[in-house]
Amino acid sequence: MEKVNIKIDGIEIQVDKGTTVLEAAKKLNKLIPTFCYHEKLPIFGGCRMCLVYDVKARRSIIACGSYVYDGMEIETENEKVKEDRKFILEMLFTRHPLDCPICDKAGECDLQNWGTYWGPQNPVLPITPFEKIREEVDWESDYLEYVSNRCVLCMKCVSVCDNINQSHSLYPLERAFETLIDPVKKPMDTSSCEMCGLCVDICPVGAILFKPFKYNARPWLLNETFTHCSICSLGCPVVIDHDGKKIYRIRSTAELEVCAKPYLGYDSFNTNRLKTPKINGENTSLDNALKQIAETVNKNPSKTAVIVSPYLSNEVLESINSFGLLTTSIITLDVVPLLEGFGDYKPPTQEEIKNASHYIVIGDDITLTNPVLTYYMKKKVVYIGESLGRIKKLYPYFIQAKGREIIEKLKEVAQEGSVIVYSSYFYGEDARYLGEVLKNLEVEKGCKIIISPPYSNAFGVVNYIKNIYPITQIFEKVISGEIENIVMFGEEISLVVEEEKLKEILNKLKTKILFTPFEDGLALISDVVIPLNTWIEEDGHYDFLTGQRKSKASIKPIYKNSDVLNKLKSMLQLNNLKIDIKPFDYSIPDWILKYQQDIWDCSYFSLRSENLTNWKLKNLGVLDEY
Ligand code: SF4
Ligand code: SF4
Ligand code: SF4
Ligand code: FES
Repeated sequence: MEKVNIKIDGIEIQVDKGTTVLEAAKKLNKLIPTFCYHEKLPIFGGCRMCLVYDVKARRSIIACGSYVYDGMEIETENEKVKEDRKFILEMLFTRHPLDCPICDKAGECDLQNWGTYWGPQNPVLPITPFEKIREEVDWESDYLEYVSNRCVLCMKCVSVCDNINQSHSLYPLERAFETLIDPVKKPMDTSSCEMCGLCVDICPVGAILFKPFKYNARPWLLNETFTHCSICSLGCPVVIDHDGKKIYRIRSTAELEVCAKPYLGYDSFNTNRLKTPKINGENTSLDNALKQIAETVNKNPSKTAVIVSPYLSNEVLESINSFGLLTTSIITLDVVPLLEGFGDYKPPTQEEIKNASHYIVIGDDITLTNPVLTYYMKKKVVYIGESLGRIKKLYPYFIQAKGREIIEKLKEVAQEGSVIVYSSYFYGEDARYLGEVLKNLEVEKGCKIIISPPYSNAFGVVNYIKNIYPITQIFEKVISGEIENIVMFGEEISLVVEEEKLKEILNKLKTKILFTPFEDGLALISDVVIPLNTWIEEDGHYDFLTGQRKSKASIKPIYKNSDVLNKLKSMLQLNNLKIDIKPFDYSIPDWILKYQQDIWDCSYFSLRSENLTNWKLKNLGVLDEY
């Protein structure tokens, strides 16, 4: 790469040709104010807040959109630059209401911050700051609100929706002072908008607000935890705003990777939480509950099975594995046979995914199962599946197919350089067959394969539970009376087993033991119930698509999962354990339901989100209208 030598505020620095002045200044930790710039978005150059002085050209230039040249000399703090910044701020304050005391962005607002550094915050024109110039626009949304007079017209909201989420849900309406930001379709909640919240997070002022957060808390009173979302297998970097007891928001980092599942669905972690162990519905001590579990299991360990959730951390899975009990999970329906058919699976790197020449998406719509994966996909997309839903936003070449026909069509269209993207759709033998086909395409045609389960830690279950048995066979053993006790972690079984069959299975059991975050659902019919922490309350590692990452806890848990499981392990005596299971059988009985994923229905905890549920109810029946 060709280098150029430049000077910034008298300091010499060598940078790559093609670097912008702003990027070069960042290397020297120079603070240059911006409104319309974001490193992940195309340069817009509209706000002029980043003006600096080019000594050789003897004029002010924008730092975000000007490229360095050899011998360039830049001043970022001279009197001219300060005057320029003050003038831009005065222009903005002419129309911007000074309503910081009631604005939700106060404390994290760029206009407030730059005004403090480079103000004064006086308007240049003799109109009152409260004078109404622009029309108010109602986005007709329960979640997002636009306050037109606060908008500084940086266009980052439109750009992030077009270039990152790619759902193209916003556009600028009118021109000049009258410019407004409007959704392409109203009501917004039934439009192509995916409620990712990126437009809210990126807005430098309080012009786009997240209604569920509005007037709930001041950002400076909350703690920020930088962690990884552990809802699907992508593990996106997110920030959790909380006070140690309650979550107020989950939002994107500067990486701009977040979807509605945590953004709208954060409320599920505050809802109906189980706070104390219970025996037969009555509160009890942890010791009592563990004693009861140990007595039940020790009496006849071979008659006990454990169902693990694909949302548990590796640490919890490792503890459960060390019990040595017969263990299963709902992922034996789909991910386990798929990986068995595939053999040794190594996902492509994030760079390989992003730099693909084209993508072939098969099965379920990944806009619903792993929404952020679609943010990476900026090239040609082929979609082979049953119907076109939200994935329409990527303008795919659509091949309509159903069942194994999808796999046969894939074999026809896959070619060298194809990145094949699969999240979910196939169960049992079909999943195993898909695994074999994907392996062949990898070996013979050099395709890259992305297997991105809708659950956060399916790979962790495969890696940490050494002997995992098909869940259908475990249920058959319950019905035949060979298994009498089940220890469940999470509640996925209620999503994949047909209701009458589930009742039959649960009624057959002598003891139902449940580790759950919630006091409702299966907790109401279980004999022993123990609180289970999610990724929000306990640190843990997860084997995401892009590698193992740590999710950091934000809320203080009542008990630590690891302490509870270690205590239980010390009470278990599994001397008579005999695990007798016939050869694996991946056939899928008709009482197994397809775990239907959507942005709003994605896990047993997201189903408890009031925000996601209301959004879903508003959308029933209107999805075809995008
Ligand atoms: S919430 Fe996301 S999808 Fe909806 S308008 Fe904002 S950026 Fe676009
Ligand atoms: S709403 Fe916010 S992000 Fe969008 S143009 Fe206005 S100030 Fe910029
Ligand atoms: S794509 Fe998956 S990991 Fe990323 S924010 Fe959405 S649910 Fe979380
Ligand atoms: S940040 Fe450079 S013009 Fe807006």
